[in-house]
Amino acid sequence: MTRFRFYTATTLDGFIADEHDSLDWLLDQPIDESGALNYTDFIGDIGALVMGATTYQWVLDHNESTGESWSYTQPTWVFTHRDLAPVTDDVRIVSGSPTDFRQELVDAAGKKDVWIVGGGDLAAQFAAAGMLDEVIVSIAPVTLGAGRPLFTKAYDLELREFDRNKAFLCARYDVVGPRPTR
Ligand SMILES: NC(=O)c1ccc[n+]([C@@H]2O[C@H](COP(=O)([O-])OP(=O)(O)OC[C@H]3O[C@@H](n4cnc5c(N)ncnc54)[C@H](OP(=O)(O)O)[C@@H]3O)[C@@H](O)[C@H]2O)c1
Repeated sequence: MTRFRFYTATTLDGFIADEHDSLDWLLDQPIDESGALNYTDFIGDIGALVMGATTYQWVLDHNESTGESWSYTQPTWVFTHRDLAPVTDDVRIVSGSPTDFRQELVDAAGKKDVWIVGGGDLAAQFAAAGMLDEVIVSIAPVTLGAGRPLFTKAYDLELREFDRNKAFLCARYDVVGPRPTR
């Protein structure tokens, strides 16, 4: 069955980018590409991607500055209220609730999983829609004090796996459900 998985790096204080959407704090950290919870193994299980507009724009800007091109081979859903241009035929620009796209995401993923790339509020929208099974974080040894949040709703998770990958503490959690309100 298709799983919806949020896989991201984060600072110890729960930010996935700084206030200017920079990942400078992340990109110079040592990591073993074949180590614990590595990206290569993860992306091999992924059949469709979901990301918010800021993340999409970051990838486009990064590619422009490095001369790289769009690297994802899987179909990608970009959530935005704006009329953004899809960078390839496999990018769909969409708006609305995650539930509006559940069936097409599951169909596109086939026997594989859906990667919620970020940001944290979009991942929380997927959780609220009952469309988030797993959170996988690589925690960098950095605090920023402010920035783009890892997650924006109160949820209980269950720790399923953890390990060290060079500078990172890596952990995989099942999503249990929203924290009960008093
Ligand atoms: N550390 C990591 O590994 C990692 C991973 C992923 C991302 N990042 C970075 O983290 C930052 C995340 O940025 P962010 O917090 O702004 O989150 P984001 O999800 O990338 O972008 C948020 C934007 O997505 C659009 N959006 C979200 N939900 C929507 C919905 N239901 N319908 C339509 N549009 C919707 C809105 O854009 P509009 O209203 O403007 O259209 C919203 O302002 C980026 O800098 C990204 O590069 C880091």
